[in-house]
Amino acid sequence: MATRALVTGAGGFIGHHMVKYLVAAGYWVRGVDVKEPEYEPSAAQEFELLDLRRWDNCLMATRGVDEVYSFAADMGGIGYINEHHVDSARNNVLISTHMLEASRTNGVSRFFFSSSACVYPQYLQSSPDVKPLKEEDASPYDPDEGYGWEKLFTEKLCQYYYEDCGLETRVARFHNVYGPLGTYDGGKEKAPAAICRKVALATPGDEIEVWGDGLQTRSFMHVDDCTEGVFRLLHSEHHQPLNLGTDYLITINGLVDLVSAIAGKPVKRRHNMEGPQGVRGRNSDNSRLRTVLGWEPSILLKDGLDVTFHWIEEQLIKDGSITSSYSGTS
Ligand code: NAD
Ligand code: GDD
Repeated sequence: MATRALVTGAGGFIGHHMVKYLVAAGYWVRGVDVKEPEYEPSAAQEFELLDLRRWDNCLMATRGVDEVYSFAADMGGIGYINEHHVDSARNNVLISTHMLEASRTNGVSRFFFSSSACVYPQYLQSSPDVKPLKEEDASPYDPDEGYGWEKLFTEKLCQYYYEDCGLETRVARFHNVYGPLGTYDGGKEKAPAAICRKVALATPGDEIEVWGDGLQTRSFMHVDDCTEGVFRLLHSEHHQPLNLGTDYLITINGLVDLVSAIAGKPVKRRHNMEGPQGVRGRNSDNSRLRTVLGWEPSILLKDGLDVTFHWIEEQLIKDGSITSSYSGTS
């Protein structure tokens, strides 16, 4: 009989891709979210609209499943999480706490929690030339306000459910995930999708707005590497938090240049120094990831961004924001 999995946040970016991954692997999947996926129907055999801040809904969502993949969260890019400390901390603590207890109550065997690089201390991320962050660097604690504190608390809760209740919890700290079928406008979008949208909307030679001086750095992981890593981690014996990201560091200006080259469209940058910027630099140390999984993300940023840019451009053509794909060269 097929393994039965629950994917929460299945109407969102990573959850939607995780459903596709699991169904392709032969799983029976129940997807749960407060909304349907925006860009294409879910591949889940069953999809339920439930608000997982509520205990009764978490009990219903976890009935009869072997594995839980927990992606439901009130989240967005730095512009959103900086402005919504109460929403992200309160909503996510309710979702995570009820989901863990409901999973224990319903006898789930394995539980995956999507944590974030936002748990790492801000004092270690004050330079663009940041030292890649190792898992043990999380303490002494100084995570991102609101959103980062909830992730840290739920990491501990996963540890307690493993130690006290025997629930096989697994935790990955995602480093900025991008790819097609992700939010690209409306305020929750992260830098790769935002820059793709801005370049796609620009006419050649236009200025696009970039938050900060663009010298801040990040590493970015394609969503297909993310789902692969999640699946491998959940079926490993590693029950401590693990980085899941690439260790290819790039400036935001570098990201703009890459997207501009993919589009074949030159753009100028207008730096908005009032824009939200988050940490100055953030990178993943993948030493433990390699040891534990014998694997690490491998999709090159230029290749992943190529697919992502063209998907976003296609959406903008469909909604009438642009008339056609730009075919010039830079
Ligand atoms: P997303 O916003 O696309 O998906 C999250 C989904 O959760 C949304 O569809 C939303 O409707 C749903 N949700 C929110 N509140 C809910 C509720 N009360 N009940 C049921 N569903 C609810 O985000 P994503 O990028 O797919 O992120 C998935 C997970 O990975 C989140 O936990 C996020 O914190 C984590 N994460 C993502 C990134 C990234 O770069 N995308 C980085 C670090 C961590
Ligand atoms: N979103 C966005 N939009 N960011 C921009 C833009 C823009 O138009 N222009 C420049 N940036 C810069 C931001 O100022 C920030 O310095 C950098 O790009 C990255 O921004 P985001 O992708 O929005 O967020 P983040 O990397 O700071 O944090 C994200 O990743 C974490 C995991 O690594 C968030 O999505 C967190 O929720 C997530 O946990």
